[in-house]
Amino acid sequence: MIVFEQAGFVYPGASAPAVDGVSVEVEPGRLLALLGANGSGKSTLARLGNALLVPSTGTVLVDGMDTRDEDAVWDIRSRVGFIQQNPENQIVGTIAEEDVAFGPENLGVAAHEIRIRVDEALEAVGLAGFQRREPHMLSGGQKQRLAIAGALAMRPSYLIADEPTAMLDPVGRADVLRSLRHLRSVGVGVMHITHHLEDVLDADRIIVLSLGRTVFDGTPAELVVDPGRALSMGIELPAEILLAHELRRHGVRLPDGHPAPEDLVEALWPL
Ligand SMILES: Nc1ncnc2c1ncn2[C@@H]1O[C@H](COP(=O)(O)OP(=O)(O)OP(=O)(O)O)[C@@H](O)[C@H]1O
Ligand SMILES: [Mg+2]
Repeated sequence: MIVFEQAGFVYPGASAPAVDGVSVEVEPGRLLALLGANGSGKSTLARLGNALLVPSTGTVLVDGMDTRDEDAVWDIRSRVGFIQQNPENQIVGTIAEEDVAFGPENLGVAAHEIRIRVDEALEAVGLAGFQRREPHMLSGGQKQRLAIAGALAMRPSYLIADEPTAMLDPVGRADVLRSLRHLRSVGVGVMHITHHLEDVLDADRIIVLSLGRTVFDGTPAELVVDPGRALSMGIELPAEILLAHELRRHGVRLPDGHPAPEDLVEALWPL
């Protein structure tokens, strides 16, 4: 488990903390979504999670190891995969398989094992057969999936994905979301940072940051019950959820939870 305990971080020279007293866990096989406006501290929290930054206050523990412990940093980084918003920043190989092999090579994994891991990781993100392709020739979505494959090949216990779908079209976005769901289903603990609530409506837990502090901590269902409050935290609810609210307010009976567009049509216009 990754445990943030009252974690805080102040950038050198900054007058206010970028992250301020945040307590949350990334648990195996569960999806934690992190939302919040620009500058609210999401990426800073992400970097605290894999020891790219160490907390100024509070603690961050990865499977019991303190990220301040310099002797543990290597072990921590091998357990916590990290995907950045811009896939261009994380391409290191001249061909796809080299890129995916980079992480496990650094971990000292044996060559024949790397071969297996690379093929499995490319397969898991839907890039089977792309082994010899040049990364810079891939589309944005394919590059981002290549980055996920690189993280997967390290067999991490956790994956922190910082706006992994921000640059992608709807198909690329759906592919990346599918890859993240797959990881959760095989027991990886996922932290997914996003501006799109609709990407994380199936999260196990959502936290919303504002000025570095947690302003919401609960389930997606708890977040969407109050559109006004969500909007005040900078979160726009998906149109079908807003429509469902209005319909319920006017006495239209709808199935519980987040109705799909088809449910709304059925309620309005039963055939
Ligand atoms: N390297 C840095 N040095 C100094 N201040 C920084 C640095 N990186 C971020 N900050 C500041 O820390 C605060 C939080 O930034 P952070 O990047 O964590 O926010 P974010 O929620 O990820 O935003 P976005 O949605 O735009 O990605 C902001 O006020 C930002 O200006
Ligand atoms: Mg960010």
